[in-house]
Amino acid sequence: MRKPFVAGNWKMNADGHASVELAKAIAFGSSESAEQVHIAIIPPFVYIPAVVKAVSTARIAVGAQDIYFEQKGAFTGEISASMLKDTGCTYALCGHSERRHVIGENDELVNKKVAAAISGGLLPILCVGELIEERKASKTEEVVTRQLKNGLAGLNIEKASAVTIAYEPVWAIGTGLTATPQQAQEVHALIRKLLSKMYSAQLAEEIRILYGGSVKPDNAGELMRQQDIDGVLVGGASLNADDFLAIIQAAV
Ligand code: PGA
Repeated sequence: MRKPFVAGNWKMNADGHASVELAKAIAFGSSESAEQVHIAIIPPFVYIPAVVKAVSTARIAVGAQDIYFEQKGAFTGEISASMLKDTGCTYALCGHSERRHVIGENDELVNKKVAAAISGGLLPILCVGELIEERKASKTEEVVTRQLKNGLAGLNIEKASAVTIAYEPVWAIGTGLTATPQQAQEVHALIRKLLSKMYSAQLAEEIRILYGGSVKPDNAGELMRQQDIDGVLVGGASLNADDFLAIIQAAV
């Protein structure tokens, strides 16, 4: 059985005070459900230490929104996996759609980040998902297959088992448009089938595949009831403690 996983990606939101308050409210409100649901919060880099401290007595993991693939050196502005590990991070998003489509990251760079996260002791959350034009042109399967295969390229089965996949159709992120549970389930099933072919049936069975894109308290439950949807990656609604807690509750 895959334990449900609810992760909140705060993106470039909240200041230091608001980050700590939000983290504390989530820790307090999830104390009972944290046994059944795996919870992660993903604040901006600079607030990670304060958020780690704020949730230190709770069963909440903290993640980073991105990492750089080199371990150290002359890479001005970048942050390595070992630095993030050192601050108390457990997870790192790799290839979030905003990194791909706003900042311009390609599959090759995302793949290096996934590998570096694992080598540095972090658990990567590899994000994949198609643009609206790609869905309209019936290219969803092609795009998701390419992003998944390229994102995991070179990883052996042991390393791949450290990865969580997040399917986030780009057209659903921050738009209020959610994929229907059926549309999401279809892509999740495809991802699991691909993982089974690339690695093994057991790995495919065990790996967690999250859905992301305008997840809210009122649609989270139905999405997570789909067979291959093991949890959700939440953006906007994770900035409100009550909404995020309601989504966690929907996973119980
Ligand atoms: P959203 O963001 O929930 O605001 O659509 C999801 C994400 O970007 O992970």
